[in-house]
Amino acid sequence: MKQQVTKSISYEFHDDFADLSVEQVNLINAAEEASSLAYAPYSDFYVGCAVLLNDGTVVTASNKENASFPAGICAERNALNFVSDHHSGKLILKLAVVAKPNRFQMDEPAAPCGICRQVICETEKLQDSNIEIIMASVSGKVLIVNDSESILPFHFYLSQLKK
Ligand code: THU
Repeated sequence: MKQQVTKSISYEFHDDFADLSVEQVNLINAAEEASSLAYAPYSDFYVGCAVLLNDGTVVTASNKENASFPAGICAERNALNFVSDHHSGKLILKLAVVAKPNRFQMDEPAAPCGICRQVICETEKLQDSNIEIIMASVSGKVLIVNDSESILPFHFYLSQLKK
């Protein structure tokens, strides 16, 4: 028997920073600043990520590419991996991502790639709490979702691997 199921997601769209909290604006600015440290000679697509921890620490990272393309890593995973190694036990409350391509002006908010969504999802499971995801553009447009579920509705997790 077929069942038609509809899943809906909820997100905030802002066309400027006016209604954002100071924490959110600071995080977007930190992510934008981090994008200038990207090593992206192949794509020219500079990405910065900033995460806010529950003790107020902000960790930033950028994307790092490689001549062997698959060896490159996104800004988001660089940030999450750093937190895992250097701030273990702390909770990640918010994650902001900003893309600043070199060759054109990007008007729409940057969205984490599928692999990064998967890693954000696993981080939420491990810390047992959601991570607010703030996707921003330098032109001021911002999308905010409450958790990875909102941008990765059917995730793959450990419980599906082990029975
Ligand atoms: N990139 C990120 O850093 N984060 C994303 O979520 C999307 C893509 C990087 C990877 C690569 O260095 C460049 O952007 C182009 O894909």
